[in-house]
Amino acid sequence: MTRYDLALIGFGGVNRALAELIAERGDELAAELGFALRVVAITDLRAGSLVRGDGVDLAPLLAVAPRELDFSRMEGGSAEPRNEQVIRHVPADVVVEATFTNPDDGEPAVSHVRWALEAGKHVCTTNKGPVALHGRALRELARRNGVRFECEGSVLSGTPVLRTARRMFGGLRVSAVEGVMNGTSNYILGRLESGLGFADAVAEAQALGYAEADPTADVEGHDVQLKVMILANEVLGAELRRSDVPCVGISGITASQVREAAARGLRWKLVGSAARRPDGTVEARVAPVALPGGHPLAGVSGPVNAVAFHTDLLGTVTVSGPGAGRVETAYALLSDLISIHQAAGERVREEAYVG
Ligand code: HSE
Repeated sequence: MTRYDLALIGFGGVNRALAELIAERGDELAAELGFALRVVAITDLRAGSLVRGDGVDLAPLLAVAPRELDFSRMEGGSAEPRNEQVIRHVPADVVVEATFTNPDDGEPAVSHVRWALEAGKHVCTTNKGPVALHGRALRELARRNGVRFECEGSVLSGTPVLRTARRMFGGLRVSAVEGVMNGTSNYILGRLESGLGFADAVAEAQALGYAEADPTADVEGHDVQLKVMILANEVLGAELRRSDVPCVGISGITASQVREAAARGLRWKLVGSAARRPDGTVEARVAPVALPGGHPLAGVSGPVNAVAFHTDLLGTVTVSGPGAGRVETAYALLSDLISIHQAAGERVREEAYVG
């Protein structure tokens, strides 16, 4: 059976949840999907790095509380993350990049992705920075090196928004995309509506694992700004930069505003949108909007998010599901690995056909 050896870069909630999935359900997944997964390296800013060519024994490692994890005490371990050395030189098939998103220049994740692709390794990432800021160049680099650059988890965690658009919309013209795409701010708005204060609502969203390492990116709309760029660039074929996407978050919205709007049948939502202009260029923005109750995005609550695609032949198609969460985002990585496996199968079939 085909086996993919993985190097996990970043061992916060998401890659840890992927490791849990492999440890708990690896055999079942292999039987169902036709490939096995083995972790051969893990790097983390806090825990250091661990390289085991014969496969990391995940169960004992996962039994250690995240804050107490120290790879330097383990065989094959070091106190240093050694990201570049691990990504470039450890023999792995796939580099799974799940470090924090840096909305300014995407680093260090952009370098992680580049090193992996240059070394001929597939990449799956949940990190919005590389996809939003350098998606086209990285995809081209992957193509030149004969590997895949997969990034489903960069928008709405494991809910298949990008893959739906890429795989299922053949022949459709998509004129616009709009969505509620930040679980944290949507959760906060919902909690304000039910009477909680802003700071308490943020703390709850952090405790539930929805918020970014710095929740400013969630409440000020920068997280949605990156997601809008990803959708505009990947689905509408634009080449937007951050400065092209005006962005207002929810920090200016008060609890009384939310409750007054609710009394009038309106729901405040942080909406990210991108639309094709008549001249073919694309305009995009992020802003809080008080939506009427009947709007398709008005009923999207808490950590559930949704993206509506406006198309010519089908009208509006809405994909809805979890927008955040460690397990939900780890599923995005699994779906990327499935996609890599399927692409490898397609290539083998094409070569057999041509040959
Ligand atoms: N922090 C994001 C959210 C999840 O709250 O939706 C990752 O994009």
